[in-house]
Amino acid sequence: MNNLPNDEGLFGDFGGRFVSETLMPLIIELEKTYQSAKVDNSFRNELLYYQKNYIGRPSPLYLADRITQNLGGAKIYFKREDLNHTGAHKINNCIGQILLAKRLGKNRIIAETGAGMHGVATATVAARFGMRCVIYMGLTDVKRQKTNVYRMKLLGAKVVPVTSGKGTLKDAMNEALRDWVNNIENTFYIIGTVAGPHPYPVMVRDFQSIIGYEVREKIIKIEGKLPDILVACIGGGSNALGLFYPMIKENVRMIGVESGGKGIETGKHAASLTGGVPGILHGNRTYLLQNQDGQIKDAHSISAGMDYPGVGPEHCYYYKCKRIDYVSVTDNEALDAFKKCCYLEGIIPALESAHALAYVSKIAPRLSKKTIILVNMSGRGDKDISIISEHC
Ligand SMILES: Cc1ncc(COP(=O)(O)O)c(C=O)c1O
Repeated sequence: MNNLPNDEGLFGDFGGRFVSETLMPLIIELEKTYQSAKVDNSFRNELLYYQKNYIGRPSPLYLADRITQNLGGAKIYFKREDLNHTGAHKINNCIGQILLAKRLGKNRIIAETGAGMHGVATATVAARFGMRCVIYMGLTDVKRQKTNVYRMKLLGAKVVPVTSGKGTLKDAMNEALRDWVNNIENTFYIIGTVAGPHPYPVMVRDFQSIIGYEVREKIIKIEGKLPDILVACIGGGSNALGLFYPMIKENVRMIGVESGGKGIETGKHAASLTGGVPGILHGNRTYLLQNQDGQIKDAHSISAGMDYPGVGPEHCYYYKCKRIDYVSVTDNEALDAFKKCCYLEGIIPALESAHALAYVSKIAPRLSKKTIILVNMSGRGDKDISIISEHC
């Protein structure tokens, strides 16, 4: 399982690199650079330095005692990625990729963003390394994540609102790929999740795996064993794979929570595994929400970071071989979990992370007090306050 992907970037039937001829040499150069950086001590030490002193790692493991008591079953821990610099797990990947951009001699950074957390993290590292930065963001997301748009601008990035399609993450990614094709000489594309053409899915997974490695080390010291169940939300799937991958060979149950939006039966959701079929988008073969003619359907989620009609190819592989369980929760269930986390733990979670917590709220009461569930608190919810105020 740990030998995947193969040389073509395939996880079984999924992944690969379906890009135009213009981008192919860049993708291959990036893969070579990543392979050499991975085993280069100076790259690893620099990454370690920024993980510790810039992001603030390791992030804490927190026993959510009041939620545990409230649900009355399994013991629930949070991995506090919300406490990272910039407020989410996204920065783990951005630091890694900007160091690769530097290694490749690029000086212009582009990225797509949905909730804006990846955009903010990208703008942050671009500022830190003195690089120009352009962020593509769907117009719908620009409107619902205003604070993050302002943060990106403060950090010196140009934010380009994308009006095509539904104006969400898929459309932003289309636009970023278009920019890349036209600016291959000086531009590095920092993709924000475990999607896109090879080597992005594996590279992003590796940069995010620090989450799971830290969990392993800490929970064994506290509890003397690994968690029984790991739970994380799935937009493209990067925080989930970051948590799961370092324990994928262990006897640990893993649950990825997709956005069921207004309910799977309504068709208004973003559950690509639960409700999609295989197809090709953004350079890789993956599960996608499509209509009968193979056209990509618009996803719906209350949470901008979950609002993507695809999912990372490695998740498709684990879905098919049943190593990871994939489930969904609705917008309303996520909202309830959001509120519960605020008033019981004093933690305002990102709406994305609230999806993971919502599923935990369903299963924890039925489990024994000896069962340990670890939830990835992928980000903080300051960005979501205006959406929440419309629903409460
Ligand atoms: C806080 C937070 N969690 C989760 C996600 C979903 O992304 P992924 O599935 O790649 O972790 C996002 C995406 O923007 C996010 O901002």
